[in-house]
Amino acid sequence: MKKIGASIILCLLGIALALPGLAQEEKDLLESKCTGCHSLKVVYKAKKDKDAWLITIERMVDKGASLSLEEQEALADYLSQQ
Ligand code: HEC
Repeated sequence: MKKIGASIILCLLGIALALPGLAQEEKDLLESKCTGCHSLKVVYKAKKDKDAWLITIERMVDKGASLSLEEQEALADYLSQQ
């Protein structure tokens, strides 16, 4: 029983540590990929769901932003939760 409790605590700790880590990755992406042409104010001002963000990010890629498909997906996920 003790062992199970410890595993659960370790697991929760892992999740708690991983979540801000992931968000930090997306913030770094925003800083490095989305500030070349406009400030991040433009980005944070916009409220969109994930599909709308995917379309917007695709439009930015058309304009010259360079993001892999995984990065586009991760950013759309992150931004739709802001
Ligand atoms: C190559 C230049 C360029 C890069 C890089 C770029 N943008 Fe843009 N962005 C623009 C231009 C130009 C506009 C204004 C015209 C328009 O909306 O199409 C704009 C407008 C926007 C808008 C406001 C319009 C809307 O649809 O809500 C958002 C939000 C946005 N960009 C998000 C992003 C994100 C997120 C990134 C990074 C993935 C990014 N941009 C990177 C050029 C760029």
